[in-house]
Amino acid sequence: MSGQAAGFVTADEAAYDELYDVRTEAMHSGNYIDVDPYPLMNAARERGAVHKGFLREVLGLPPFHRSRQVTEGRQGYSVLTFAAAEQAFRDNVRLSNRIYHMTPGDAKFLGILEMDEPEHFAQRKALQSLFIKPRAVGKWRDRWINDIVKAIIANLEGSDRAELNMALCARVPVHTISAAVGLRGEEALTYRRALVASMGGKFGPERQREGMITAERITREQIALRRKQPGDDIISWLLEAEVEMVDEPRRHLTEDEIATFCRLLLLAGGGTTWRQMGIVLFALLDERERWEAVKADRGLVEPAIQESMRWNPNNPMFSRLVVADAEIGGVAIPAGSVVDICLSAANRDPSRWDNPDVYDLHRPFKQHIGFGMGVHMCLGRNVAESEMFVAINALMDHFPAMRLDPDQPRPFLTGGLEQRGISSLPVLLR
Ligand code: HEM
Repeated sequence: MSGQAAGFVTADEAAYDELYDVRTEAMHSGNYIDVDPYPLMNAARERGAVHKGFLREVLGLPPFHRSRQVTEGRQGYSVLTFAAAEQAFRDNVRLSNRIYHMTPGDAKFLGILEMDEPEHFAQRKALQSLFIKPRAVGKWRDRWINDIVKAIIANLEGSDRAELNMALCARVPVHTISAAVGLRGEEALTYRRALVASMGGKFGPERQREGMITAERITREQIALRRKQPGDDIISWLLEAEVEMVDEPRRHLTEDEIATFCRLLLLAGGGTTWRQMGIVLFALLDERERWEAVKADRGLVEPAIQESMRWNPNNPMFSRLVVADAEIGGVAIPAGSVVDICLSAANRDPSRWDNPDVYDLHRPFKQHIGFGMGVHMCLGRNVAESEMFVAINALMDHFPAMRLDPDQPRPFLTGGLEQRGISSLPVLLR
């Protein structure tokens, strides 16, 4: 497959600029913050594991909540230590993922992410064989990731400089997930644009509705196509998958369930890996010895990725709706409250890691919380890790002397408290 033909590198540059700027993304979502939140998180964690108040209140940041349709009129609590965050993620009986519910009635816009047990267990079980390790690192890599990275690297070969946030980090995840559901080139970006608009934010209700309709139309077209012509792709796999819901005979997934899962995949897998890939590359390039150490010992690529997820997870917080009186980190939390779990603060808990603010390639591995924990722990984490793994190795193979461009502004972390990433990644390739 040629990269040009596949459309990974020729697609509309302006569309990438619009969709893949971390600061603009936060501005559009209304959640941009202009401070480094880590000193605030560290100070709050020192004052206690769990605080009354939404995370932004506790940190003294301007108000915003990604689940504002649910949080209005409720009491917030914020969880900041590793132990308390783990407890909150694992208490999936009293702490509910209904916090994500954003459509009227029971229809689930975000599929398994907004389900509780036993529905969540049954649905996730039906899907997870597409993501477990051998399949993720084998099939996803062979089928899509390797070719996409190869096409993007080939496009960079003729250049001396590049802006890797746009040229690589933005492209690998969106084209991987889109190709997996059958979308190519421009179509992938049209879908991404529609999906981003469908989440609301600054675009307003009209663009939100249009976005939902476009995303829905594209997914349904793909499902109809795969029904007629099954292939080796996610939708064809999902058409074969069976689910065993409580009190129901075993059955295939409905078209609605497949469409919803595709939407969740495109949403969950597109933005997160883009931002995290930028963060890990920045960590490696910002201190030359790290880049050289990993280049010399590729066994360090995996630790480099994991450490970036601990040091700067691109999604610093997730929330839960408390549906029965709970106790987290010794603090009683009444039913009806909302809990903001701060992954970033938990990942820098000094009772678990030495010098937690430092990105340390050689740190002995301890499970971080960057992919969440418990029953909703990221289903696509092996895919995300594979994308970063293949991209970092390819860069090191093709551009061993690569370094941050000294003539460009030094990259920095930016965004909101809900999602963070790198400002840009200008490099000299040779
Ligand atoms: C570095 C990249 C990624 C990060 C940091 C990340 C992080 C997370 C986190 C923290 C959750 C749990 C949210 C919660 O408990 O409320 C989650 C869930 C999920 N992620 Fe990821 N994710 C990444 C990439 C991906 C990719 C590439 C895919 C798809 C291929 C994906 C698919 C999902 C799905 C389907 C869920 C819902 C799981 C469930 O509810 O059972 N993610 N992700």
